[in-house]
Amino acid sequence: METQLKNLQSEALSAIEKTKTPEDLKSLEVKYLGRKGELTQILRGLKDLPPEEKKKAGQLSNSVKKTLEDVLETKKAKLETAEIEKALKKDFFDTTIPGDARPLGHIHPLTQIQEEVERIFNQMGFGIMDGPEVESEYYNFESLNIPSDHPARDMQDTFFIKDKDDGKHGKMVLRTHTSPVQIRTMEKYGAPLRIIVPGRVFRYEATDAGHDTTFYQVEGLLIEKDISLSHLKGVMAEFLSRLFGKPVKVRFRPGYFPFVEPGLELDFSCLICDNTGQREGEDCKVCKKTGWIEFMGAGMVHENVLKAGGIDPKKYQGWAFGFGLTRLVMMRYAIDDIRLLTNSDLRFLKQF
Ligand code: PHE
Repeated sequence: METQLKNLQSEALSAIEKTKTPEDLKSLEVKYLGRKGELTQILRGLKDLPPEEKKKAGQLSNSVKKTLEDVLETKKAKLETAEIEKALKKDFFDTTIPGDARPLGHIHPLTQIQEEVERIFNQMGFGIMDGPEVESEYYNFESLNIPSDHPARDMQDTFFIKDKDDGKHGKMVLRTHTSPVQIRTMEKYGAPLRIIVPGRVFRYEATDAGHDTTFYQVEGLLIEKDISLSHLKGVMAEFLSRLFGKPVKVRFRPGYFPFVEPGLELDFSCLICDNTGQREGEDCKVCKKTGWIEFMGAGMVHENVLKAGGIDPKKYQGWAFGFGLTRLVMMRYAIDDIRLLTNSDLRFLKQF
């Protein structure tokens, strides 16, 4: 019996030593110490032994039992700690480690100026409108009093969308200016109106430092009962002065656009030479010594245009203007190539 006990102990100890999971350990505990376990079986045989041996074997089996219980207990604690450590390693997230810094972008110079323009006109009571970039010939030309034989309809200037004709409004084109939104806004809201329309426009032309097939304009439209060109002069002088942060003068010259009558061009006083045409004893290069910068087309809205927009020209009148936002950005930052603004070169864009 003694050898039996000793064998049992050493067998159990090495089995316990080898277990890797608490489940395996549990079954070993049942195997050796459980009610039907091996040690229990041996203990049951004790009663048949002679008293002398019984005592010895009794002590021995108690000590085996105790040893096994202790070892099982220790192993159990060890396995549990290992499990916890494993789980910690897997899901561990150290909130104190600094994160990866992500490079932040910033607002494109064109958008910066657009937002400034919108803010200033907003303060003067103008709403901001939007319209489709793919436009019908009707909205881009016809409704704006540009008949089909007008040179502006020439294939040279316009991108046509192949095979697209909605039947009612002619072929589809990429809008060549923001003016179609004049008609769309009149149709939708009627008179009176006070809006600007910043937006992307497209022209079918060769690209060079001063021209691109894609650029941005800002349209303006004001329609009320008693409106004259002096209001336009006042609004534009105020707008440009706020934009440039110093007093700016404006002047009108006659100009022609089919959708206005009379039509005009607006210049503003050169900020570089202070309207003098001379700078540090030399001719000003920016305004080519005229003292004025050509800025935009404008005029009183043609009555055919008011009619196309569903507004009665006998009751209402107004003016419209259109300037190049892209050109304004180029002037503001002295950018000498228009293509820099659309080719997404970070070495350029990071400077703003
Ligand atoms: N649409 C004209 C252009 O693109 C500008 C303009 C707008 C002129 C409104 C007069 C009135 O050149």
